[in-house]
Amino acid sequence: MDALDLILTRRSVLARNMVAPGPNDDQLEAILRAGIRVPDHGKLAPWRVQVIDAAGQRALADLFVDIQRRAQPDMAEAQLLAEGRRPLRAPVLLAVTQTLQRDHKIPTMEQRLSAGAFCQNLLVAAHASGFVAQWLTEWPAYDDEVKAALGHRPETDIVGFIYIGSAAEPPQERARADLDKVVSHWSGPAS
Ligand SMILES: Cc1cc2nc3c(=O)[nH]c(=O)nc-3n(C[C@H](O)[C@H](O)[C@H](O)COP(=O)(O)O)c2cc1C
Repeated sequence: MDALDLILTRRSVLARNMVAPGPNDDQLEAILRAGIRVPDHGKLAPWRVQVIDAAGQRALADLFVDIQRRAQPDMAEAQLLAEGRRPLRAPVLLAVTQTLQRDHKIPTMEQRLSAGAFCQNLLVAAHASGFVAQWLTEWPAYDDEVKAALGHRPETDIVGFIYIGSAAEPPQERARADLDKVVSHWSGPAS
Protein backbone atom coordinates (compact mmCIF):
# COMPACT_ATOMS: atom_id res chain seq x y z
CA MET A 1 0.00 0.00 0.00
CA ASP A 2 1.44 3.39 -0.89
CA ALA A 3 1.60 6.29 1.53
CA LEU A 4 -1.51 8.01 0.19
CA ASP A 5 -3.57 4.83 0.40
CA LEU A 6 -2.39 4.39 3.96
CA ILE A 7 -3.67 7.83 4.90
CA LEU A 8 -6.89 7.33 2.95
CA THR A 9 -7.60 4.05 4.73
CA ARG A 10 -6.46 4.94 8.24
CA ARG A 11 -9.12 4.37 10.86
CA SER A 12 -8.94 4.52 14.59
CA VAL A 13 -9.76 1.27 16.29
CA LEU A 14 -11.37 1.63 19.69
CA ALA A 15 -8.75 0.90 22.33
CA ARG A 16 -11.13 -1.58 23.95
CA ASN A 17 -11.07 -3.59 20.71
CA MET A 18 -7.29 -3.88 20.67
CA VAL A 19 -5.34 -7.05 21.33
CA ALA A 20 -1.69 -8.12 21.28
CA PRO A 21 0.65 -7.89 19.58
CA GLY A 22 1.68 -4.29 19.78
CA PRO A 23 4.81 -2.93 18.17
CA ASN A 24 8.07 -4.40 19.40
CA ASP A 25 10.86 -2.09 20.54
CA ASP A 26 12.25 -1.50 17.04
CA GLN A 27 8.83 -0.90 15.54
CA LEU A 28 7.93 1.44 18.37
CA GLU A 29 11.14 3.39 17.89
CA ALA A 30 10.27 3.86 14.21
CA ILE A 31 6.79 5.06 15.16
CA LEU A 32 8.28 7.52 17.66
CA ARG A 33 10.75 8.75 15.03
CA ALA A 34 7.79 9.44 12.78
CA GLY A 35 6.26 11.36 15.67
CA ILE A 36 9.11 13.82 15.94
CA ARG A 37 9.20 14.38 12.19
CA VAL A 38 6.46 16.96 12.25
CA PRO A 39 6.25 20.60 11.24
CA ASP A 40 7.73 22.50 14.18
CA HIS A 41 7.98 26.26 13.71
CA GLY A 42 11.09 27.56 15.44
CA LYS A 43 12.46 24.09 16.19
CA LEU A 44 10.95 24.21 19.67
CA ALA A 45 10.20 20.47 19.82
CA PRO A 46 7.14 21.48 21.83
CA TRP A 47 6.09 17.94 22.69
CA ARG A 48 7.23 15.00 24.78
CA VAL A 49 6.13 11.40 24.79
CA GLN A 50 6.28 8.79 27.54
CA VAL A 51 6.21 5.09 26.78
CA ILE A 52 4.12 3.62 29.58
CA ASP A 53 5.29 0.06 30.02
CA ALA A 54 3.25 -2.81 31.45
CA ALA A 55 4.11 -1.91 35.05
CA GLY A 56 3.24 1.71 34.31
CA GLN A 57 -0.07 0.69 32.78
CA ARG A 58 -0.92 -1.29 35.92
CA ALA A 59 0.11 1.64 38.13
CA LEU A 60 -2.14 3.94 36.11
CA ALA A 61 -4.98 1.44 36.42
CA ASP A 62 -4.67 1.49 40.22
CA LEU A 63 -4.51 5.28 40.19
CA PHE A 64 -7.60 5.67 37.96
CA VAL A 65 -9.60 3.42 40.30
CA ASP A 66 -8.34 5.25 43.36
CA ILE A 67 -9.20 8.68 41.93
CA GLN A 68 -12.68 7.60 40.91
CA ARG A 69 -13.36 5.84 44.23
CA ARG A 70 -12.50 9.03 46.10
CA ALA A 71 -14.42 11.28 43.69
CA GLN A 72 -17.51 9.10 43.59
CA PRO A 73 -17.70 6.86 46.67
CA ASP A 74 -20.99 5.41 45.43
CA MET A 75 -19.58 4.29 42.11
CA ALA A 76 -20.58 0.71 41.32
CA GLU A 77 -17.83 -1.88 41.50
CA ALA A 78 -18.34 -2.75 37.82
CA GLN A 79 -17.74 0.86 36.83
CA LEU A 80 -14.63 1.02 39.02
CA LEU A 81 -13.33 -2.10 37.31
CA ALA A 82 -13.96 -0.44 33.95
CA GLU A 83 -11.99 2.62 35.07
CA GLY A 84 -9.09 0.35 35.97
CA ARG A 85 -9.23 -1.32 32.58
CA ARG A 86 -8.73 1.98 30.70
CA PRO A 87 -4.91 2.05 30.61
CA LEU A 88 -4.73 -1.72 30.07
CA ARG A 89 -6.79 -1.79 26.88
CA ALA A 90 -3.87 -1.93 24.44
CA PRO A 91 -0.44 -3.53 24.49
CA VAL A 92 1.28 -0.17 24.00
CA LEU A 93 0.32 3.07 25.69
CA LEU A 94 1.96 6.43 25.03
CA ALA A 95 1.31 9.72 26.80
CA VAL A 96 1.99 12.78 24.68
CA THR A 97 2.50 15.98 26.63
CA GLN A 98 3.19 19.61 25.93
CA THR A 99 4.42 22.53 27.95
CA LEU A 100 3.59 25.66 26.00
CA GLN A 101 6.22 28.37 25.82
CA ARG A 102 3.88 31.29 26.40
CA ASP A 103 6.41 34.11 26.01
CA HIS A 104 7.98 32.77 22.85
CA LYS A 105 7.64 34.50 19.49
CA ILE A 106 6.16 31.29 18.09
CA PRO A 107 2.45 31.60 18.96
CA THR A 108 1.07 29.03 21.37
CA MET A 109 -1.48 28.01 18.75
CA GLU A 110 1.35 26.89 16.49
CA GLN A 111 2.95 24.93 19.31
CA ARG A 112 -0.40 23.23 19.93
CA LEU A 113 -0.82 22.41 16.26
CA SER A 114 2.63 20.83 16.19
CA ALA A 115 1.66 18.61 19.13
CA GLY A 116 -1.48 17.60 17.27
CA ALA A 117 0.58 16.77 14.22
CA PHE A 118 2.90 14.77 16.46
CA CYS A 119 -0.01 12.62 17.61
CA GLN A 120 -1.33 12.25 14.08
CA ASN A 121 2.09 11.11 12.84
CA LEU A 122 2.10 8.46 15.57
CA LEU A 123 -1.32 7.22 14.41
CA VAL A 124 -0.30 7.11 10.76
CA ALA A 125 3.03 5.45 11.54
CA ALA A 126 1.30 2.83 13.66
CA HIS A 127 -1.06 2.13 10.77
CA ALA A 128 1.86 2.00 8.31
CA SER A 129 3.57 -0.52 10.60
CA GLY A 130 0.58 -2.86 10.47
CA PHE A 131 -0.93 -1.87 13.81
CA VAL A 132 -3.97 0.09 14.84
CA ALA A 133 -4.12 3.07 17.13
CA GLN A 134 -6.46 5.46 18.88
CA TRP A 135 -5.88 8.93 20.29
CA LEU A 136 -7.84 9.37 23.51
CA THR A 137 -7.95 12.04 26.14
CA GLU A 138 -10.88 10.93 28.34
CA TRP A 139 -10.93 12.30 31.88
CA PRO A 140 -7.40 11.17 32.82
CA ALA A 141 -5.80 13.63 30.39
CA TYR A 142 -7.39 16.48 32.32
CA ASP A 143 -6.79 15.14 35.82
CA ASP A 144 -4.10 16.86 37.86
CA GLU A 145 -3.34 13.74 39.91
CA VAL A 146 -2.75 11.70 36.77
CA LYS A 147 -0.53 14.45 35.45
CA ALA A 148 1.46 14.59 38.70
CA ALA A 149 1.80 10.81 38.84
CA LEU A 150 3.32 10.90 35.36
CA GLY A 151 5.81 13.44 36.68
CA HIS A 152 4.42 16.58 35.08
CA ARG A 153 4.05 20.07 36.40
CA PRO A 154 0.56 21.59 36.48
CA GLU A 155 1.28 23.78 33.45
CA THR A 156 2.04 20.74 31.29
CA ASP A 157 -0.85 19.43 29.22
CA ILE A 158 -1.51 15.82 28.38
CA VAL A 159 -2.27 16.19 24.69
CA GLY A 160 -3.44 12.63 24.50
CA PHE A 161 -2.93 9.01 25.25
CA ILE A 162 -2.07 7.02 22.13
CA TYR A 163 -3.13 3.39 22.35
CA ILE A 164 -1.47 1.02 19.87
CA GLY A 165 -2.12 -2.65 19.24
CA SER A 166 -3.70 -5.06 16.81
CA ALA A 167 -7.36 -5.02 15.87
CA ALA A 168 -9.51 -7.79 17.36
CA GLU A 169 -11.63 -7.36 14.22
CA PRO A 170 -11.43 -5.00 11.24
CA PRO A 171 -12.95 -1.60 12.07
CA GLN A 172 -16.15 -0.43 10.38
CA GLU A 173 -15.76 2.52 8.04
CA ARG A 174 -16.80 5.82 9.56
CA ALA A 175 -18.69 8.59 7.77
CA ARG A 176 -16.29 11.32 6.75
CA ALA A 177 -16.85 14.99 6.17
CA ASP A 178 -18.20 15.91 2.76
CA LEU A 179 -15.27 17.22 0.71
CA ASP A 180 -17.54 19.75 -1.04
CA LYS A 181 -18.45 21.27 2.32
CA VAL A 182 -14.85 21.45 3.45
CA VAL A 183 -13.10 22.65 0.31
CA SER A 184 -13.72 25.90 -1.50
CA HIS A 185 -11.76 27.74 -4.13
CA TRP A 186 -10.65 31.35 -4.06
CA SER A 187 -9.32 33.26 -7.04
CA GLY A 188 -8.98 36.72 -5.53
CA PRO A 189 -11.24 39.27 -3.84
CA ALA A 190 -14.78 39.58 -5.18
CA SER A 191 -14.95 42.65 -7.41
C1 LIG B 1 -7.49 15.44 20.75
C2 LIG B 1 -8.40 14.28 20.58
C3 LIG B 1 -8.93 13.66 21.70
C4 LIG B 1 -9.80 12.59 21.57
N1 LIG B 1 -10.31 12.01 22.69
C5 LIG B 1 -11.26 11.07 22.58
C6 LIG B 1 -11.86 10.52 23.74
O1 LIG B 1 -11.55 10.90 24.86
N2 LIG B 1 -12.82 9.57 23.56
C7 LIG B 1 -13.21 9.15 22.31
O2 LIG B 1 -14.09 8.30 22.20
N3 LIG B 1 -12.61 9.63 21.19
C8 LIG B 1 -11.67 10.57 21.29
N4 LIG B 1 -11.07 11.09 20.18
C9 LIG B 1 -11.51 10.58 18.85
C10 LIG B 1 -10.75 9.32 18.41
O3 LIG B 1 -9.36 9.49 18.53
C11 LIG B 1 -11.01 9.01 16.93
O4 LIG B 1 -10.75 10.13 16.14
C12 LIG B 1 -12.41 8.55 16.73
O5 LIG B 1 -12.55 7.30 17.37
C13 LIG B 1 -12.74 8.41 15.22
O6 LIG B 1 -11.86 7.58 14.58
P1 LIG B 1 -11.11 7.96 13.22
O7 LIG B 1 -9.74 8.38 13.63
O8 LIG B 1 -11.18 6.73 12.40
O9 LIG B 1 -11.88 9.11 12.62
C14 LIG B 1 -10.16 12.13 20.28
C15 LIG B 1 -9.60 12.73 19.15
C16 LIG B 1 -8.74 13.80 19.30
C17 LIG B 1 -8.16 14.44 18.06
